[in-house]
Amino acid sequence: MKKLLITIDGPAGAGKTTVSRALADRLGYRYINTGALYRGVAYEVKRRGINPENEAKLQKLCHLIQLGFESKGTGLRLYSDGVDISDPIRTPEISMLASAVSAKSIVRDYLLEVQRDIGQKKAAVFEGRDMGTIVFPEADVKFFLDASSKTRALRRYQELESKSSQSLEEVAQDMKKRDTNDSTRSLAPLKPADDAIRIDSTGLSVEKVVDLMLSYIEKKL
Ligand code: DC
Repeated sequence: MKKLLITIDGPAGAGKTTVSRALADRLGYRYINTGALYRGVAYEVKRRGINPENEAKLQKLCHLIQLGFESKGTGLRLYSDGVDISDPIRTPEISMLASAVSAKSIVRDYLLEVQRDIGQKKAAVFEGRDMGTIVFPEADVKFFLDASSKTRALRRYQELESKSSQSLEEVAQDMKKRDTNDSTRSLAPLKPADDAIRIDSTGLSVEKVVDLMLSYIEKKL
């Protein structure tokens, strides 16, 4: 069977992670969460006390760190210089810092190479913000997943509940700020590719969204 490269872009809380993972499972493909890579850089920025506005320090950091995914029983884990950082990158503070460092060209250039390298073998579902527009403009099938802001805030809140003390209101505010940062930055802003299939997941179950995506993918297989 043909090996495809599938991209899923969209704002925070649209359901990208759950859907991408389920879709990759159904196809027997690798699932790559590119937001984790930006979070990985943010984590190292914080750990080393680097000012994210200091471009020289950011550049040095990008030359120094080795970020990579490894497949474990519980799914894909992110490692930085051999240390599993999959859990500590999921805090609200790292979310906001990831959004800030992702606007820097030094960071985007570094991660562009990392992502394209992983994508070479195809047979993968890549989740992110600029997968269909910048990283893989030649992807076989591109999706743009969205949902109402109320639904997205509620999903993010439920996801974070055990890991953060933020109220629903605070989660909604953080999300709005991050959406604005991510979609108004000059470099690779969050937006659907011209040839992306748009899906609004408000009120749809994960299974429904995955089935819908598979119906488009089957035409390409
Ligand atoms: O998908 P996420 O919420 O884990 O992503 C964290 C941040 O990383 C997000 O606010 C913007 C940035 N990001 C990006 O700029 N490009 C990507 N392909 C993925 C994430």
